[in-house]
Amino acid sequence: MVRVAIIGAGIVGLTSAVNVQKSIPGAKVTIIADKFDKDTTSAGAGGLYRPTAALVKGVPPETVREWVQDTWDYYTSLAMSPEAGETGQTLVPGYMLSDNQSAVQNQLFESIVFNFKLLTPDDLKRLKLPFKYGCSFVTVITQPQKFMPWLMRKFKEQGGTVEFRTVGKLDELAGAYDIVINCSALGSRQLVQDHSMYAVKGQLVHVKAPWVKTFLYCDDKKTPTYFIPHDDCIIVGGTREEGNYSIDIVPEVQEDILRRAGEILPQIKGGRVVGSWAGIRPSRDPLRLEKELLTIGGKKLRVVHNYGHGANGVTLSWGTSLRAARMAKEWAQEITPSARL
Ligand SMILES: Cc1cc2nc3c(=O)[nH]c(=O)nc-3n(C[C@H](O)[C@H](O)[C@H](O)COP(=O)(O)OP(=O)(O)OC[C@H]3O[C@@H](n4cnc5c(N)ncnc54)[C@H](O)[C@@H]3O)c2cc1C
Ligand SMILES: *[C@@H]1O[C@H](CO)[C@@H](O)[C@H](O)[C@H]1NC(C)=O
Ligand SMILES: *[C@@H]1O[C@H](CO)[C@@H](O)[C@H](O)[C@H]1NC(C)=O
Ligand SMILES: *[C@@H]1O[C@H](CO)[C@@H](O)[C@H](O)[C@H]1NC(C)=O
Repeated sequence: MVRVAIIGAGIVGLTSAVNVQKSIPGAKVTIIADKFDKDTTSAGAGGLYRPTAALVKGVPPETVREWVQDTWDYYTSLAMSPEAGETGQTLVPGYMLSDNQSAVQNQLFESIVFNFKLLTPDDLKRLKLPFKYGCSFVTVITQPQKFMPWLMRKFKEQGGTVEFRTVGKLDELAGAYDIVINCSALGSRQLVQDHSMYAVKGQLVHVKAPWVKTFLYCDDKKTPTYFIPHDDCIIVGGTREEGNYSIDIVPEVQEDILRRAGEILPQIKGGRVVGSWAGIRPSRDPLRLEKELLTIGGKKLRVVHNYGHGANGVTLSWGTSLRAARMAKEWAQEITPSARL
């Protein structure tokens, strides 16, 4: 039996785990992580499906397209399924706005999301949106706080097991597992550091304003302002602070987010702040999706790396995890060539 360990229980680890169960039938799959569910970065993400090739630096555009198309197909199929209330996907109309034309003209948007349309200056005036350029479309929002527990249930139902611990040294895994899928995002300080990983802190506010039912993403300057409706609140952001590893909530930053938000969408001002959150986008240019054969103490460890999804982890996770599962299957075929996988 092929033994597979997945390091990481964020959205990338969980989607990799269920895809490996499918690609290597009969494999013994274990998720090893030191943070689960609400403690992960993934749990706090707004979950807006926003395919922006510019944010996936160093990857050929046609590869990004395949990844985000696969994610789109999967998330929209969940949104349209009877299980949608549990999986956490919803189709939501909204706007992308900017004073920079190229930020709203994006080929991935135009060809993937539903009903893409550029807004005219007149549209913008009638909507009272204070931007020079804009587009409207229907996209899918994924609520990680529903999707992640759903993936975990599915994983366990299919025989998956879970270990709660920090992977300190890789020798812990060699011998015990045949294949390791590395979804450790920023990873831990104990593991051999990948120096191309960097942090981009993001802070956001949870506002109860159930009358807001559209998403807005305003991306002109370094600091984006966005509104992502979830079931219980609107996720209002944000910040993009490169090199900041702290997840402290800064009150002045929160005030600034709410001020910007109120200027763009005055109807948010009548809402009530019910929470706040900060997380670190685990960034790498390019994100790492590849196989690596390690030899540790004479034992072979076949690794598939799947980390560094930065600002786009929800948008990229399903597509990249399908590829990672395919790579794991190639490793499995090498181990047991006779097995008909
Ligand atoms: C404010 C903010 C808003 C965002 N909004 C969006 C959005 O709207 N749309 C979108 O697509 N993306 C969004 N993102 C990005 C998204 O959250 C990330 O890209 C995604 O969560 C990365 O997932 P991950 O599974 O790689 O990492 P994580 O969720 O960080 O998971 C990493 C896992 O690895 C484990 N781990 C690491 N090292 C070890 C070790 N040594 N031993 C054991 N376990 C280990 C951890 O315990 C954890 O389980 C947002 C991010 C932030 C910060
Ligand atoms: C406009 O956006 C594009 C891509 O999003 C970026 O490369 C460019 O630097 C931006 N221009 C300005 C003036 O901000
Ligand atoms: C997994 O990725 C991390 C970076 O997040 C790296 O430091 C670590 O060496 C990798 N682990 C394996 C098993 O290759
Ligand atoms: C990082 O964020 C913390 C608060 O979480 C803040 O005090 C600090 O000034 C920031 N550091 C940098 C380098 O921006």
